[in-house]
Amino acid sequence: MTDLAAFIAGLPKAELHMHIEGSLEPELMFALARRNGVDIPFNSVEEVRAAYSFSNLQDFLDIYYQGANVLQTEEDFRDLAMAYFDRAAADSVVHAEIFFDPQTHTDRGIPFDTAIKGLLAGMDEARARHGITSRLILCFLRHLSEEAAFETLTQAEPWLDRIEAVGLDSSELGHPPSKFERVFARAAELGLKRVAHAGEEGPADYVWEALDLLHIDRLDHGNRSLDDSALVRRLADEQMTLTVCPLSNLKLCVVPSMDVHPVDRMLREGLRVTLNSDDPAYFGGYVNDNFRAAAEARGLGRDDLVTLARNSFLGSFLPKDEVDAHLANLEAYAAAN
Ligand code: ADE
Ligand code: ZN
Repeated sequence: MTDLAAFIAGLPKAELHMHIEGSLEPELMFALARRNGVDIPFNSVEEVRAAYSFSNLQDFLDIYYQGANVLQTEEDFRDLAMAYFDRAAADSVVHAEIFFDPQTHTDRGIPFDTAIKGLLAGMDEARARHGITSRLILCFLRHLSEEAAFETLTQAEPWLDRIEAVGLDSSELGHPPSKFERVFARAAELGLKRVAHAGEEGPADYVWEALDLLHIDRLDHGNRSLDDSALVRRLADEQMTLTVCPLSNLKLCVVPSMDVHPVDRMLREGLRVTLNSDDPAYFGGYVNDNFRAAAEARGLGRDDLVTLARNSFLGSFLPKDEVDAHLANLEAYAAAN
C-alpha cells in the first residue's frame, strides 16, 4: 500500500451519498434470489459483473432496479444494510447517511414497512457492532409522478422520528426539481431535511431549482454547476455541501476519464466537496476506492484529503457536538500520520 493509500485507509470519514440498493453485491443478489425463489437473468456472479457496463445514467438504472427484485423480506433489507456497514467500517467510515428508494419496493408489492424495518434493524446493529452512527434519507423516484411521491411521504409519516431527510433520485433529464416543489415543501413542514440529485446529467438550471424551489440542505453530485460561474459563487458563498462520486461519474460517463475529474477544481473554487461511493456494488468501489482514484488521478495531497473528510462531517446532519467530536478525532489523526 502506498503512503497515501494507507493515510486514506485510516482517515476517519462520513459517507453522505450511498444508495443502499446500490450496495447489493452480486454474491448477495444470488444468495437472496435463492433464498426467496426469485429468478434473475444471470447464471453467475461473473455474468452479473460483466453486465455492469453503462453508457449513461438510464443504462445503469435499468439494471439497478432489476437487481432490487431479490429484496423481499425484512431480513433481506437488514442483511443488505449490514453488508454495507461491515464494508464501510473497514474503510474507516464512522458515520453514514444512506439513501433508500421505497417506491422501488412498494411498486412491486413489498410494503414500505418491510423495507424500513429491515434497514433500521441493520442501522441499529451497525451501531452496536462497529460504533457507526447513521441516518436514513428517503428518496423519491423523480421519473414517477408528484402524486406517487406524496403517497410515499404519507406512508413515511409513522416513521418520521427515524427518517432524517428526503432526497430526489433516478432519471434526471426531463424530471426537473420543480416537479417536486410541493412535495418538498410538505417534507419541510414535517420537519425533514432536504437533499436532491442535481447537475449529474442535468443542467446547472436544475441545481438553481434545487436551491430555490426545493430549498435543499445538501446537493448530490452537482458536477454541472461548474458550467455556471454565478452558481459556483453561490454554492461557495453558502458553503453548500456537494456529495461528489468520482467512480460513479466515470462509470456513468459524466466524465470521460478520471484524469479530467473536476474534484480539484471544485476544491480550488472553495466548494464544500465530499467524496462518496453512490452505488458501490455497481461502480467498482467503496468510499476509499473513490478517495484513492480521485487522489491518484488529480494529484490530491494529504491536506486535500483531510479537507474532504472534514467536509463530510461538516456536511452531515449530525448535531454540532458530534460533528465537533469527529473533527477533533480527524485533526488528531492528521497530526499523528
Ligand atoms: N439512483 C441510484 N444511483 C443514482 C444516481 N447516481 N443518480 C440518480 N439516481 C440514482
Ligand atoms: Zn446517487
